[in-house]
Amino acid sequence: MCGIVGYIGNRNACEVLVEGLKRLEYRGYDSAGVALFADSHIDVIKTPGKVSRLESMTSGVQAARIGIGHTRWATHGEPNTVNAHPHTDCTGNFAIIHNGIIENYSSLKTKLTLLGHSFRSQTDTEVLAHLIEEFYSKTRSTEMAVRLALKEVNGTFGIVVMSSSEPDVLIAARRGSPLLIGLGDSENLIASDASALISHTRNVLYLHDNEIAIITRDNVSLKNLDDEAIEREAEHLTFDLEQIEKGGFDHFMLKEINEQPETIKNALRGRLIDADGISKMGGLRDVEDKITNARRFVILACGTSWHAALVGKYILEQCANIPVEVDYASEFRYRNPVLMDGDVVWVMSQSGETLDTLAALREAKVKGAPVYGIVNVVGSTIARETDAGVYIHAGPEIGVASTKAFTSQLAVLNLINLLVSRRRRTISAEQGRAIVEEMERLPEKIEQILGQRDEIEAIAEEFKDSRNFLYLGRGVNFPVALEGALKLKEISYIHAEGYPAAEMKHGPIALIDENMPAVFVAPGDSTYDKILSNIQEVRARKGNVIVISNEADGRLKDLAKYIVQIPKTIDILSPILSVIPLQLLSYYIAVKRGCNVDQPRNLAKSVTVE
Ligand code: AGP
Ligand code: GLU
Repeated sequence: MCGIVGYIGNRNACEVLVEGLKRLEYRGYDSAGVALFADSHIDVIKTPGKVSRLESMTSGVQAARIGIGHTRWATHGEPNTVNAHPHTDCTGNFAIIHNGIIENYSSLKTKLTLLGHSFRSQTDTEVLAHLIEEFYSKTRSTEMAVRLALKEVNGTFGIVVMSSSEPDVLIAARRGSPLLIGLGDSENLIASDASALISHTRNVLYLHDNEIAIITRDNVSLKNLDDEAIEREAEHLTFDLEQIEKGGFDHFMLKEINEQPETIKNALRGRLIDADGISKMGGLRDVEDKITNARRFVILACGTSWHAALVGKYILEQCANIPVEVDYASEFRYRNPVLMDGDVVWVMSQSGETLDTLAALREAKVKGAPVYGIVNVVGSTIARETDAGVYIHAGPEIGVASTKAFTSQLAVLNLINLLVSRRRRTISAEQGRAIVEEMERLPEKIEQILGQRDEIEAIAEEFKDSRNFLYLGRGVNFPVALEGALKLKEISYIHAEGYPAAEMKHGPIALIDENMPAVFVAPGDSTYDKILSNIQEVRARKGNVIVISNEADGRLKDLAKYIVQIPKTIDILSPILSVIPLQLLSYYIAVKRGCNVDQPRNLAKSVTVE
């Protein structure tokens, strides 16, 4: 998920690598490193923290003409020096950098350990270095060793490998994590993102999944993992640098909204067991019994994470029949909360650094409860202080308004719900398999919704000058209404309130007139007919209505002029889909109002103050 740069040519490789890694800094990362071939061996220099720190460590290093560099976004193993990339094999003959997740790293590590390999790090990546070493001992070819090693791997990778026994070649390969090759004059580069190449060359070759590139100063050849040669025309980069850093999107928030099909895949990757209709999460393996036998869950969070927690309440009580209390972390920590034997406390946080949530975590531990985390940033303070936990694998979220982290939090909550419900036997294997099947179809359904961006932008154009909004939903989609209102407030500065749809008639309906648009989150679930009545109540008072629904019946069309159709799914998963149009609606309204979408006024990405 993070930054890769490789260089082979006649210039100072270290300078090229560090400059390229700096170009990738915007993606967010926790550590950085380079490997350089000089004087017949590979030097590895790596550190937690910023590229500038790595740069200061490399000043005065012996000039090298070939090297690889990496900025890491940890998925397996704390962000520290030993876990930073590049990783080497036992002999130091190979160095590797890797973006992605090796799902079967644990079984491969066991096999390699039995073969005598010794490991230094906690990462999944290091397994690749030793696997390549193992195959090299049989093939005496780096290219073949890399190909054979990758055929053993489940998961995603974008890798570059260098070898001191073949110092005039770099081997790159990809599956699921992007890589492209910059074609120069007696030099070639590799990167995970064009922004690291564009100052050197605009002529590039994109690697496709399950392809490998053999790269020397003067030549690039492509193959698939079955050793079949591939011919591909070079492409010419036309973007400007600023555009590239956002992947061609105008803002990080829009990029991250559009990443959600991929980030949901990453949240679920390797964690669904289709045959048994259950889930498994490595980080909870040792506490499954405690979770299954809990008498109550208490979920603590702030902001968008609190909205995700509230969705968790609805789905866990509905499926796992376990009482769930959701609390604002900031309130929990000061109200002398009552925790009982059998309580399990969860803390949810994208950044893993939110002070209110960290303080609530510590309060819960003082009161003797087990505390588990649902966090995005690996090795963050909250992640480190919990007794166990699950990473959501959403990758760096740069936009201050949380989008992809929210849907990945919901995906992980559904994984936990599936595990607990199946182990408590409140759902059958058949019901579990149906949930697994629906979860696996979420990415394609999100893609369908993203395809409606033009229709949603047109609605934003219609309502961009509104001064207030009401967001309404029922059941598991009530927290989605709250989240939609927060998104709009945060980035467009329009006042918006979320309410349970039925609650509107107990006061807020007094606000309804032709200047107060009401957004209804109304998928065709068990409360659909009720919410139609609420829509009628608004229409009867000249209120404008925007509806997010997966129902196409005529009744809705008679009531609402603005309908965003979303694909059907099972109720407990519907918030993952119904929130997407609200994210886009708030984005387009904010852009049309000229707001700073990625850094809204008064806000910080991680609130580390009280
Ligand atoms: C969400 O868009 C906001 N940026 C904010 O409410 C955020 O969700 C809240 O500060 C919690 O952050 P965390 O998930 O990193 O703990
Ligand atoms: N899974 C690897 C690690 O945790 C790579 C992470 C990344 O993509 O930066 O080190």
